[in-house]
Amino acid sequence: MAVVTHAADAVVAAPTPVSLPTPGAPGVYVHVPFCAHRCDYCDFAVTTGADALARRRSVAALPRELATVAAAGPAAVAPRGAAGVLAAPDGAADIAGWPVFGSVFVGGGTPTLLDADDLAGVVRAVATALPLAGDAEITVEANPETVIAESLATLVAAGVTRLSLGAQSFSPSVLATLGRRHDVSSVASAVTAARAAGVAQVSVDLIYGTPGERDADWHASLRQAVGLGVDHVSCYALTVEANTPFAARVRRGEVPDIDEDVQARRMATADAVLAAAGLRRYEVSNWARPGAESAHNRTYWRGGDWLALGASSHGHWQGRRWWNVRPTGRYLAAVEAGGAPVAGAEVLTAEQRRTERLLTGLRTVDGVPRAAVTPVDEAQIGALVRAGLLVDDAARLRLTPAGLPLADGIALRLLPARERC
Ligand SMILES: C[S@@+](CC[C@H](N)C(=O)[O-])C[C@H]1O[C@@H](n2cnc3c(N)ncnc32)[C@H](O)[C@@H]1O
Ligand code: SF4
Repeated sequence: MAVVTHAADAVVAAPTPVSLPTPGAPGVYVHVPFCAHRCDYCDFAVTTGADALARRRSVAALPRELATVAAAGPAAVAPRGAAGVLAAPDGAADIAGWPVFGSVFVGGGTPTLLDADDLAGVVRAVATALPLAGDAEITVEANPETVIAESLATLVAAGVTRLSLGAQSFSPSVLATLGRRHDVSSVASAVTAARAAGVAQVSVDLIYGTPGERDADWHASLRQAVGLGVDHVSCYALTVEANTPFAARVRRGEVPDIDEDVQARRMATADAVLAAAGLRRYEVSNWARPGAESAHNRTYWRGGDWLALGASSHGHWQGRRWWNVRPTGRYLAAVEAGGAPVAGAEVLTAEQRRTERLLTGLRTVDGVPRAAVTPVDEAQIGALVRAGLLVDDAARLRLTPAGLPLADGIALRLLPARERC
């Protein structure tokens, strides 16, 4: 197994330490890889059919990995020679020189397949090992059918503030096409249970553009999500991932392929329905009530820093990226042997960091500070401003509502010509 420790991985890329501003507090991502079954469209790193022993081993491995990472301090995850990793910023606690973390996201997979006490224990372990802000956003991802009131009370007591539910659709036939195993009513039950347990923020994920979905189905899904009074909605265009059962069905001609025009129309419908319900679009795929935007995802989009724990998780710290081994068994074996489960790492060049900042930042309504993305193609800026797609206020570049759905293509146009390929 090619396991790389954080300390040894500088050989992967020749680092040019860069000191772009790192806005906002860092976050922690924890990956729980277990699912009851694999949905037909999903290519995430998940393990199905895991028994209680595998789950217990995972619950033990996560705090163990966390303790090692926490004790090593930020110098172990930052690029060699990065400026300021040992300096304590304002409000920093004194745990191995870490700054205060502002968010934790326990994602999957299906974290709620773990016993609630075990999942709560993982959350508490993070709060013990690292300095966590008193008002940190702590999200747990859940499948609707796995959510029960008693479990949620346990999670809230451990500090969980946010539940992200994979609803996907409120149309039974679309759920069937996606290979989802929950029924529509379980989403409402889960939201009600979350509110009753005192979960502060509830978000639902929806998928649009599934073959067979009609405009009316999508409209009804949005209306039903809104009707549940959720604080946040993520709407994702269905992507046909190679090597999924869904892709095989498309190849065999059993279901039609994705229609991008339909998806564009559905995205516009989402914005209209959600805006009318008071949810503001703050990123291409994300809408929130004012103040309910996801702090954790904002860290990703603003080029911030986050630690990553669990099989296949990816972290980023001041321009250095690393990723853990993907198979759950290899992850567990590495941690149980006292090693680091890191599969690889790279240090981004200044050019790569600028490109990434442009690609992720332009997808948000806040846009990007010009200073973080310069040089960009100034001729393209002029053309995009004249076309009503971009606002250039000298300090920041940001897309207009008309430009936002085209964010990825516009970001590519703005790259200096030599970086575009
Ligand atoms: C990693 S999943 C975890 C959520 C949870 N396990 C669930 O399915 O309910 C996070 C979200 O990614 C989205 N997603 C996963 N695969 C996708 C695909 N192929 N196309 C579009 N969205 C996808 C789904 O909306 C899903 O809720
Ligand atoms: S439950 Fe979520 S993570 Fe698991 S296979 Fe389905 S979409 Fe993927």
